[in-house]
Amino acid sequence: MNRRRFLLDLLSASAALAVAGPATRAFAGDPAQFAAGLERHPWMAGWRQVSAEALGPTRATLEGRLPDGFAGTLYRNGPAWFERDGFRYEHWFDGDGMVHGWRFGDGRVVHRGRMVATPKFEREKTLGRFATLAAGTTVPNPLPIRNNDDANTANTAVTVIGDRLFALCEAGSAFELDPDSLATLGPVTWRPDLAAVPFSAHPLVDRDGSSWNFGSIAMMGGNGLLVWHVNARGALISADVLETPEPGYLHAFAMTDRHLVFMLIPVDFGQGGSFFDRMRFASSRACRVAVVDKATPSKARWFETGFTTAYHFGDAFERRGRIVMRTVQHLDPDEARSPMKAAMQGHDGQSPKPTRLVELHLDLKSGKAHWETLAGDGIEFPLFDARTRGDRPARLYAPTRAGESSSPYFNAVAMLDPERGMREVHRYGRDILAEEHVFVPRRGSTKPDDGWLVGTLLDHARGRSGVAILDARRVAAGPVAQAWVPYTFPLGFHGTFAAA
Ligand SMILES: [Fe+2]
Repeated sequence: MNRRRFLLDLLSASAALAVAGPATRAFAGDPAQFAAGLERHPWMAGWRQVSAEALGPTRATLEGRLPDGFAGTLYRNGPAWFERDGFRYEHWFDGDGMVHGWRFGDGRVVHRGRMVATPKFEREKTLGRFATLAAGTTVPNPLPIRNNDDANTANTAVTVIGDRLFALCEAGSAFELDPDSLATLGPVTWRPDLAAVPFSAHPLVDRDGSSWNFGSIAMMGGNGLLVWHVNARGALISADVLETPEPGYLHAFAMTDRHLVFMLIPVDFGQGGSFFDRMRFASSRACRVAVVDKATPSKARWFETGFTTAYHFGDAFERRGRIVMRTVQHLDPDEARSPMKAAMQGHDGQSPKPTRLVELHLDLKSGKAHWETLAGDGIEFPLFDARTRGDRPARLYAPTRAGESSSPYFNAVAMLDPERGMREVHRYGRDILAEEHVFVPRRGSTKPDDGWLVGTLLDHARGRSGVAILDARRVAAGPVAQAWVPYTFPLGFHGTFAAA
């Protein structure tokens, strides 16, 4: 079948968005309830709406000293606009995206943040109310939308390709931003027939600088994945449809030097409400795993393995005829549909739900797959040094919890090296929320894990947001530098570092 024709047929058949369900119940959050929760629990500042559409530029107060040669910008994205007209989203994933830039250089750190001016955000600003189908909240009286990008919140991640900056979410186009001012330039169409096809939030950069990504066609009412490959200058190399044997949910993927690995979590859909209201992870069924040779992205070898709920993957490596891939398993699949739900709604603190680090072994000879559990409980957002050799496991860097904390969120960062039985933790403190830590190679070094971890923080007791730099090989020693701005903004999800 002509692949391009197939895709066009598929897309034209899906007039309605898969995220749209009949609105039979109202699921509004209540701003007053959230405000009361925030009064009792200052850590809920991590889920408080941002105070303005643009923040900064603000020179941050620097503690310590920037490492020699450390220059560039940490870009981050996350949901930031949660309330309009007395209505509050009840699901964290629904807030409109704000992109932040923490710029390092010349001994200073400057912060700026800006809402992504998506058609959704601009239209609702004019209307003064939310009026668009959302992923996890039932919005009353939504206006019709033409395609995914009319509902795109661009709120999940950022990527830099060449010198271009993009805000990403899982159900629509990448939105290009000006890398200096963070002003929104608009949605990206990589090829004319692929307008508004999802370009998901977790692209992976290959050793040649090209980016691999997927778009879930299930998000458009069809079935299958679109596999994207974009070169280091931002030109499309290929876009292939990968047919899938049954519907499944995936948020991210992993890759080795030779293969892409997509794990589809089995799901069922009920009636009524938003996508995450209707969706249930089907724990009685197996996960299907596609192993795709990068040379033939429309073809997969399929594996089956025990049910696991996971959003994020660490590294994958390949040796002796076996692919090994690491991920963070959420042990409560139902809770995983709405992380930090109580905080979003201003309910009293919930106990943290367990996660654990697991490893999927895919035997390319026998076609069999199995899980192993690694030492690494209670983490999320795992990252690693992509320079790690492709035939050995990487060290993982991830926020975690340690010691006493006033919140049920992360307050520490960990380096995990399960193979060598190594684990180092730096605990930021009782009143600090810690987010994803990005690995930044040391300038001029090619040795894996020789570099810095750059992670963002929210100090709710002192009303400030900040950023920390740690030596990746001395995590337990704590930051070599931290920088703070005299205001807070909500927690985000993912970032990327662009070296100057
Ligand atoms: Fe994510």
